[in-house]
This record gives sequence, structure tokens and C-alpha cells, in this order.
Amino acid sequence: MQLLDGKITSDQIKEELKSKVDAIKSNGGKIPHLAAVLVGDSGAAVTYVNAKVKACELVGFKSTLVKLPETISEADLLAKVAELNADKDIDGYIVQLPLPKHIDEQKVTEAISPDKDVDGFHPTSLGKMVLNLPTYLPATPYGIMQLLERNGIETAGRHCVVMGRSHIVGSPMSILMARNTNPGNATVTMVHSRTKNLKELTLQADILIVAIGKPEFVTADMVKEGAVVVDVGIHRIDDASKKSGFRLLGDVKFDEVAPKTSYISPVPGGVGPMTIASLLMNTLQAAALK
Ligand code: GUN
Repeated sequence: MQLLDGKITSDQIKEELKSKVDAIKSNGGKIPHLAAVLVGDSGAAVTYVNAKVKACELVGFKSTLVKLPETISEADLLAKVAELNADKDIDGYIVQLPLPKHIDEQKVTEAISPDKDVDGFHPTSLGKMVLNLPTYLPATPYGIMQLLERNGIETAGRHCVVMGRSHIVGSPMSILMARNTNPGNATVTMVHSRTKNLKELTLQADILIVAIGKPEFVTADMVKEGAVVVDVGIHRIDDASKKSGFRLLGDVKFDEVAPKTSYISPVPGGVGPMTIASLLMNTLQAAALK
């Protein structure tokens, strides 16, 4: 078994981005600028947004964190989005999800200018992805593609089972793996909460990508010997023995699944850092398109 180490792979990507930014700086070009909108200040979203801003600093990007109160109205958030669309210095931005219940996420996502949609969640971006046209790919699936490619995992002709059909991970992941690209060209099965013969299908996976949001759901009996397993889940579990008061678990029961696999991504340190690296790649792309 080998680890698909997202920390190592994302550090490589960040080094490459840093050299590109250094080159832009020495040529007197415009420094890429990412903005992140955070509504409210509770939960894991704060940690994720801070990590995104910190990663920008590391590679030499400019970053702006827009913090808005949990109680902000939908109209005021949409006004902020319009302001970011019009801001000439900002190349790309994200609105961290989930948003409070009183705000329509889809409405906000659709208000983001596709030119600046570095999360790749706008219907225009997703449509272009399906058509294999140049666009911003959603950060987590893009990060997984990079993790597979940069660790030399063959995907063409292999059976990839994607568990989960969320708009931000499972659905785009299944499309990317099936596209006529490298990596890609896999035979893809998508399974979800209404799938009947789940284990029968997961046992056929050469590559199993798990994004169902249930801690330690995938157990050893569901995984084929020698499979590649990518775990997208991240769950905070209360643990008084930890200084932070919690520990992190994935969607896969790592200890029992890992010995059966050829490659497996850990949690933390697998997909998470790759998501951030992909967002930075999209931001550089946005700046280059200006
Ligand atoms: N919430 C969970 N993942 C993501 C992501 O990739 N982007 C944004 N904006 N929100 C998220």
C-alpha cells in the first residue's frame, strides 16, 4: 500500500505556482488576486477559508477575505457579489459554502461572473466541463485528478466507482473521470443513497472515490484487493484526548481498508490540501485570461 499524500503533491503544485508568480513579478505583470467570501464565523468553513487565504500568501498571490455576518440578507450578499464581479483587481473569488439557511445558494452561485468563478460551480462552468471546453474545474474533483496524475495512477479503461452525487464533488468527479482526457477515460459507475446493490458495485472498483459524508462508512469488505481508494470525507469527531477537542475521520475506515489497497489517500492530508492547490491553479488561470 502506498499513500496518496496530498500534502506532498500540493506542496509540489504550490512550488510550481510560486515560480510562476515570481516570473510574473519580475516581468512587471499583474499579481493574481483571489477573494474569499465567508458568511458567519462558525464551524469548519472558517478553518477552510483561512487555509485558502494562507495558501495565497505562500505562493505570492494577493488575497482578500470578505467576512460578512451570519444575519446578512440575501440581497446584501448579492450586492457584494456584484461588487466583486466589477472589481478589476480581483481575478477570481469564491463564496464559501454552506450558506445560512435563509440564503438561496444556487441564486448566489449563479450571480458569480463565470469569468471569476474559480470554484467552477456556476452552471456555465459546469456545462463547459461536461463539453470538455476550457473552464475552471471544481476544486475538489480537479485536485483528485491532479493527485491521481501526479502519483502515476492509470485511469484509462479502469472501472471507477464514485460514491456520492453532490454538485461540488460526486457529480463533477464522475464526469471528469469519464471524459476523453488523461487522466480520465475510465468506465464510471456512480452510486448514491438510493443504490440497492452498493457493495456488489464497490467491490468492482479499480478506483473508488468516496464522497458520501458519512464517517468511516466504507469498510474492508466493500473494497477489492489492490484498489485505489480516494477519501473525500472529513468529519470532526469529539475527542477529549486531543488538544483541539476533536479528531478528523474520513468516509473510509482507513485502518482496515488501507492494507487491501494499492494506493489510498489519508484524512487529513489527502484530498483537503489538493482542493486548495486546485483553487490556486484556477486563480492563476483567471489572472492569465485577463
Ligand atoms: N464548501 C465545501 N467545499 C467547498 C468548496 O470547494 N468551495 C466552496 N466555496 N465552498 C465549499
